[in-house]
Amino acid sequence: MENDLQAIVAQAETILKTVSSRADWEQAKATILGPNGSLTQAAKGIGQLTKEERPAFGQALNQAKKKVEGFFKTSNESIEAQADLASLGEKADPSLPSVPSHLGGTHPLTNVRRRVVSIFRKIGFTVAEATEVETEWFCFDALNTPDDHPARDEQDTLFFPPNSTWANITQKAKEAHVLRTHTSSVQIRTLFKEKPPLRIIAPGRCFRRDTVDATHSANFHQTEGLYVDKNVTVKDLKAVLDYFLKELFGDKLETRLRPSFFPFTEPSFEVDLKAPNLGKLSNKWIEIMGCGMVDPEVLKLVNLDPEEWSGFAFGLGIERVAMILHGIDDIRHFYQNDQRFLSQFSNAT
Ligand code: PHE
Repeated sequence: MENDLQAIVAQAETILKTVSSRADWEQAKATILGPNGSLTQAAKGIGQLTKEERPAFGQALNQAKKKVEGFFKTSNESIEAQADLASLGEKADPSLPSVPSHLGGTHPLTNVRRRVVSIFRKIGFTVAEATEVETEWFCFDALNTPDDHPARDEQDTLFFPPNSTWANITQKAKEAHVLRTHTSSVQIRTLFKEKPPLRIIAPGRCFRRDTVDATHSANFHQTEGLYVDKNVTVKDLKAVLDYFLKELFGDKLETRLRPSFFPFTEPSFEVDLKAPNLGKLSNKWIEIMGCGMVDPEVLKLVNLDPEEWSGFAFGLGIERVAMILHGIDDIRHFYQNDQRFLSQFSNAT
């Protein structure tokens, strides 16, 4: 009878090696361990044995059962592993080419910013950056903007509560924190860190309490520019801006400087442009940016001698450029993430 048990174990091992589906596994279980299964039947043989023979047979039966159950367990695990693999689908092939690039695109404001940056890079400007939260001193005082200037009013500027702490923003004293109203503050931070001659542009996000019409938004983007060297004149300013604007809007462009006022430039100007290729804005004077010669007071403040150094600065709205280039009349389109709007620019630069 013990030979029978060995035969059953051998048979179970052979069968379970070939079983590959759940149905075959269940079938094998019924044939061997089920109520009428071979091992169950063999176990019943114990009744025919003498008292003396029973313990040895009982031991052999237990061993046989353990082995058989082990075969079923191993086989069950391999069936489950195969099912898991099947549910993962086909094996991924990392060497296949990636999805076509037309499925996504950059935002029109990103496109304009990159274009502006790349034009200035060609003439030696580098990009400077600072934080969007700024201190009142860097945003206003250092830019010669007095306490009673309207820009410093809560009506115009977003102030943080008095005790806000910002570990990453250096302060001059204990002045308040604001959301920067322009990227001109980057001029000051750069002038403290670097020695002239220098040429930087500072693209970035700015914030004002500004909701007057569809061409203004409380959140917008600017690019500040700063050039400091020896003997820099208005002629240099005009030449650089003409070059830049022609690269951006085309060769047929005309520009003019109109007298204006900014506390940190003297003299100050607004730049207007006129071009025949701007859709319904063609051949009209359009205000595009502010600029001027860096005020000697600003140079003194960053420890530069105005007798030795001079420079110019300019600031331009990224949204404004994008609106003129693409004939967009409502600034809110840029922020609504409407695919019908965005998909028109996915490959534009
Ligand atoms: N900071 C000004 C503004 O936000 C623009 C400007 C920059 C003007 C640099 C002159 C020089 O309107």
